[in-house]
Amino acid sequence: MLKYTFYGHACFMLDDGEYKILVDPFLTGNPQATISEKNVEANYILVSHAHDDHLGDAAEIAVRESAELVAIPEILTLCTSRVDRAIKACPMNLGGKMNFPFGLVKMVPALHSSGVEGGIACGFVINIFGKTIYYAGDTALFSDMKLIGDSDSIDYAILPIGDNYTMGIEDAAKAVQFLNAKNVIPLHYGTWKVIDQNPEEFRKLVVGAEVYVVKPGQTIELA
Ligand code: NI
Ligand code: MN
Repeated sequence: MLKYTFYGHACFMLDDGEYKILVDPFLTGNPQATISEKNVEANYILVSHAHDDHLGDAAEIAVRESAELVAIPEILTLCTSRVDRAIKACPMNLGGKMNFPFGLVKMVPALHSSGVEGGIACGFVINIFGKTIYYAGDTALFSDMKLIGDSDSIDYAILPIGDNYTMGIEDAAKAVQFLNAKNVIPLHYGTWKVIDQNPEEFRKLVVGAEVYVVKPGQTIELA
């Protein structure tokens, strides 16, 4: 069974029963956080970009959990400077794929600022437990999402809908079409007033995919 647990804002865990993959672990200072950075478990940590609401506690958790940190090199350098113990760094960059014990990860483009000098924001396509999951990170709508949908049959697209810093609900609904995703999980909304959105309004705009509104602290099975 593949489980998705939402920890609030854009932080979530994929758990295939053997490996825990923690994504964008912004917990300290996250008004929606449903777990403490001191209690969260991880075997792998994926970071989409270096803005605080994504990079968050990644360095500290990686050290404590001896987790592998998967990110672009500039973020890994930043993380290494934040802690006094070695980090298991796994550098990737846009367009690259890497095999992990749980499955294949491809780092894909996102259209967003990076939060670190020389860096670039990304998304991830994660093949795990026979499912293909696309996490967009923070991004605007871009037509090359069609390429992501062409090369992989996306079972679940995890998309920001908060607007202001990322796509809003209209563009995110268009992204679902570009990606040809079967299911979609919105996130990156409601954390602060500026990204307040109603996911039920998003649901109304989505054509041809199932929308799963997952609340902070909730776990669902990705079937
Ligand atoms: Ni950002
Ligand atoms: Mn963000």
